[in-house]
Amino acid sequence: MGRLAGKVAVITGASQGMGAAHAVAFVAEGAKVILTDINEVAGRAVAESLGGDAMFIRHDVASASGWAQVVADGEARFGPINVLVNNAGIIGPVARTAEIAEADYAHVCAVNQTGVFLGMQAVLLSMLALGGGSIINVSSTSGMVANVGTPNLAYAGSKFAVRGMTKQVAVEYGADNIRANSVHPGYVNTPMMVAATDEDGGGAASAIPLGRFAEAQEISPLVVFLASDESSFITGMEHVIDGGMTAS
Ligand SMILES: NC(=O)c1ccc[n+]([C@@H]2O[C@H](COP(=O)([O-])OP(=O)(O)OC[C@H]3O[C@@H](n4cnc5c(N)ncnc54)[C@H](O)[C@@H]3O)[C@@H](O)[C@H]2O)c1
Repeated sequence: MGRLAGKVAVITGASQGMGAAHAVAFVAEGAKVILTDINEVAGRAVAESLGGDAMFIRHDVASASGWAQVVADGEARFGPINVLVNNAGIIGPVARTAEIAEADYAHVCAVNQTGVFLGMQAVLLSMLALGGGSIINVSSTSGMVANVGTPNLAYAGSKFAVRGMTKQVAVEYGADNIRANSVHPGYVNTPMMVAATDEDGGGAASAIPLGRFAEAQEISPLVVFLASDESSFITGMEHVIDGGMTAS
């Protein structure tokens, strides 16, 4: 039996990068997975490669009505959702704070922060009715400490907000057996990171004690653990996975 047998999970931003890696790992551990993303072509391809235990729904995490549809369609196929991985995110403007356009700031907040709020709100009623669930919100080391090399206030603010919202939900819903944890990766080799580190390339790796970026598949075991009943007494915590980058 897989470690996620009996779990029905929504994973957002699952068309590529870490979300796709998590979907692969979840199905391998016995979960049924609803992959969502705005990138429909790639998302359908990932879901199809995973067979009958996966389905794809095109969905913008910043859309409340979209979330209602994801829950309705996902539960019609696989039954009540008991795991949510709020993974979708965008980098937004890399510029010092005085130069950030308000519209760009607002867009990052809509996806990275409001998207996480809407996702939790959408699944909490199902989890309450079921008597429990696990929410995993993907923040970043940028939700733990300020980013020295890459100025990005909108990203940092949204990722700190994810960390705080996670704790709030953990406290509000602990008595309902609903757990909420945040995951804080450092640098991970994904399409997002390739785009963000174009200019300083390998330089960032020298700040990491392990001396390299992670692969997406190295983050998935932590997310599987937090989704599984193995982590039944862990809630309201931030889980940093950064090759030691924030240790000093
Ligand atoms: N790559 C890193 O080094 C790193 C480090 C720390 C945290 N993170 C976080 O991890 C998560 C995954 O990042 P990744 O590196 O795999 O990124 P990625 O860009 O490779 O993948 C993100 C996915 O999210 C989707 N997406 C973007 N906006 C969306 C929206 N509005 N609605 C639904 N889907 C949307 C994209 O289409 C894409 O498929 C993000 O929240 C990111 O902030 C990444």
